[in-house]
Amino acid sequence: MYQIAIDGPSGAGKSTVAKALAKDLGIVYVDTGALYRAVGYYVREKGIDPKSGPDVEGILPEITVTIRYENGAQHVLLNGEDLGDRIRQPDISMYASAVSAIPAVRAFLLETQRSIARENNVVMDGRDIGTVILPNADVKIFLSASSEARAIRRYEELKAKGIETSLEEVLADMERRDKADRERDVAPAVAAPDAVPVDNSGLDAEQTLECIKQIIFKKIPSFKTK
Ligand code: DC
Repeated sequence: MYQIAIDGPSGAGKSTVAKALAKDLGIVYVDTGALYRAVGYYVREKGIDPKSGPDVEGILPEITVTIRYENGAQHVLLNGEDLGDRIRQPDISMYASAVSAIPAVRAFLLETQRSIARENNVVMDGRDIGTVILPNADVKIFLSASSEARAIRRYEELKAKGIETSLEEVLADMERRDKADRERDVAPAVAAPDAVPVDNSGLDAEQTLECIKQIIFKKIPSFKTK
């Protein structure tokens, strides 16, 4: 099985490029952030402090988080219920980031991620895919861009989904969340030593895709013919 890991901060365009890659290469796309978002969603519903390790750990036995694919699109199910776009709300981003710093949450979601990669060729995006989840991935990319470029993209994305916010708010939230993700003790969101860094501040989605494809084709020539 081939494993492609794409890590990097929020708004770098990981999911856009990973989705397009999966389609072009005929492999499975796994958005791992959605799993942390599902846990964050439940924690918010329960009115629990997402930063309290013991409280969050305490609710884990109550939940199952599973991934299902429908026509190639990933759906995340929380206790069997499809959460859809509810996990994309900005406050859920903060909840996801907070719960993702708790070791028990990371351990809880580890096997779900690894088992998909055992059974399928995957392109998986997240923060610790190249460092923790798939340390032997065939290709590791660390995708990043300036915080301004990333905030504009995230803002446009949220606007398109009808979610109301301002660019300033998006930028501030994003910087706060990235700092927390980068500086946490467990599985910090940093590049694996063997990851190829890609800065796409000046690239559009198509150019980013092309750049990453060239890196992949060098490492896995058989994908070139797809
Ligand atoms: O990729 P995203 O914005 O949907 O991720 C939401 C949060 O989940 C992010 O702030 C950090 C956390 N996360 C993580 O810790 N590890 C991953 N592999 C993916 C996401």
